[in-house]
Amino acid sequence: MRNRIPILAGNWKMNGTLAQTRGIIGGLLPEIKNVTGRTVVICPPATALTTAADLLRGSNVFLGAQNMYLGDKGAFTGEIAPPMLTEIGAGYVIIGHSERRVIFGETDDLVNRKIKAALEYKLNPIICCGESAEQRAAGLTDGWVTGQIAKALSGIDDAAVPGLVFAYEPIWAIGTGKNCDAIEANRIIRLIRDKVKALYDQALADKVRILYGGSVTAATIDEQMAQSDIDGALVGGASLKPADFARIVNFVEK
Ligand code: PGA
Repeated sequence: MRNRIPILAGNWKMNGTLAQTRGIIGGLLPEIKNVTGRTVVICPPATALTTAADLLRGSNVFLGAQNMYLGDKGAFTGEIAPPMLTEIGAGYVIIGHSERRVIFGETDDLVNRKIKAALEYKLNPIICCGESAEQRAAGLTDGWVTGQIAKALSGIDDAAVPGLVFAYEPIWAIGTGKNCDAIEANRIIRLIRDKVKALYDQALADKVRILYGGSVTAATIDEQMAQSDIDGALVGGASLKPADFARIVNFVEK
């Protein structure tokens, strides 16, 4: 029996006008208002964060950002600083999503510095990792993913570890409808937990929450949450549909 509080997080990606933001949140909140013992996070695009913050105030849903840069201000055109996120009430930030790494060239080193910046400004990082289809076919998955975790955690103190959230998101499963088999996702998530244990200790490894992401739907969530080490989901496409995301949040314990 898992004794970690599950996290169900929605990553809207580059979707969500203000009208859509009102529609999605307005549809979602009544469906999940009685949820307890689960942490719900939604991560709208930057332009919708303040609107979402207003709509979520007083609800049981936390606000997250999809990205941020480092420091508190400066000449970084197009970027958002961590205290700008905390100022509007964000509690979480996705760091190192594969779309940031692959499309926008984010390196392991930048991911590591962003995690440290998130912690410094009291944001909970959701740290993403995952292999490509080519890496999986070549049998490189286990070493790649644990390597990403080791680099992400370089120089991070023990005290910060319990607040860390990881998301295992195989790139081939993102937005493709090819959901990773729950048993295989659990195996990789266990490897991630073992890596945290090797870098820190068992007690800290038992505290971190590790989510699965990649074509999670209302139809797949219950099986995923039935696994020993999967502590929740990072949901893209299905988080834009209030009924689907509500069903994911309301997953049924097997
Ligand atoms: P998906 O995206 O659920 O649309 O596959 C997941 C993610 O990229 O976080």
